[in-house]
Amino acid sequence: MADLPTGFWSGWVLVMTLVSLAGLAWLVLSVHFTPDDEHTGTAEPVWDTDLREGNSAPPFWWFWMLLAAMVFSLVYLMLYPGLGSFSGLLNWSQGSRIMESYGAFEENFDARRAAIATASLTEIQNDPQLVATAERIFKRECAACHGPDGRGQAALFPNLKDIDWQWGGSPELIEQTIRQGRSAMMPAWEQVLGYEDIEFVADYVIALGAGAANNSRGQAVFAQYCAACHGAQGSGNPLLGAPNLTDNSWLYGGSRRAVIASITAGRNGIMPAFSNRLDAAQIRLLVALLAR
Ligand code: HEC
Ligand code: HEC
Repeated sequence: MADLPTGFWSGWVLVMTLVSLAGLAWLVLSVHFTPDDEHTGTAEPVWDTDLREGNSAPPFWWFWMLLAAMVFSLVYLMLYPGLGSFSGLLNWSQGSRIMESYGAFEENFDARRAAIATASLTEIQNDPQLVATAERIFKRECAACHGPDGRGQAALFPNLKDIDWQWGGSPELIEQTIRQGRSAMMPAWEQVLGYEDIEFVADYVIALGAGAANNSRGQAVFAQYCAACHGAQGSGNPLLGAPNLTDNSWLYGGSRRAVIASITAGRNGIMPAFSNRLDAAQIRLLVALLAR
């Protein structure tokens, strides 16, 4: 009732309630305590020869019952909201009840969350219940992109279950990836290199992936334009998210066509930041799920 639109309505409710109560009290008193001579003054009506109306006072225990009910109402109205915007001496409200149980919930789980946020990774990994929770979070927050089992999809979203980490696979770096997100900058080389050089360097890169470098023109282009990010040997640089090109795992596909497409148009994979969406415990669980 604290949200009545104006003070007038609050006063209205208050007056109506009190006047009704007072009216009721008067009625009860007048029924039970009318002086006897008023009763005897009028003749008792008799219907249908022997049906007497009976105007003697009602049984006295009714009076006590009604009195008790009215006292209860008054006490209730003093303790709980009911008289306009007066919130009652107990200050009870549905809203405050919800806040209370919410507070109790937070209190119960805050400690649990704090414990998870600082637990060691092996501790989490060895607790099937926590692993199940982590998997639920992954399904809800990450699976849309990385696939239900985290194995990547559509040659756009990386496999998180392989040993090949673009941005580093230490727990700290995985946590950084999840918290801050990552945006990869692989420039487009079409204007700089022209199609022919792109083909040469693509063949060089594919050969790197297969474990053997094969053409010197591609190698020269690589050394000049690509090594700054991918490393002289093509082994990648986690600081830039530049992937290792010497293994046989590909983010965007290892076919000649896919590699040429990566080099021609560039790639700008974006991993969104989750620091505002997940709390420390949830992030810790995910790190434990992904780190090995
Ligand atoms: C400015 C740093 C930078 C330079 C210079 C650079 N790359 Fe990249 N490259 C990246 C990054 C970062 C990625 C990852 C892109 C992503 O994740 O979306 C990438 C991805 C690739 C991929 C895709 C790998 C895969 O697994 O699918 C290929 C192929 C590639 N680069 C080849 C090259 C070649 C060839 C050159 C030189 C012509 C080159 N890059 C120059 C940063 C660079
Ligand atoms: C909107 C799609 C999307 C969502 C949702 C998403 N990711 Fe990613 N994630 C990506 C992309 C794209 C990359 C690759 C970025 C790049 O090319 O460098 C990535 C990269 C990563 C990497 C780095 C992989 C490596 O090899 O270094 C990790 C770790 C990761 N994501 C974890 C997660 C987790 C955990 C979640 C859920 C909390 C998540 N991602 C949700 C799109 C997404």
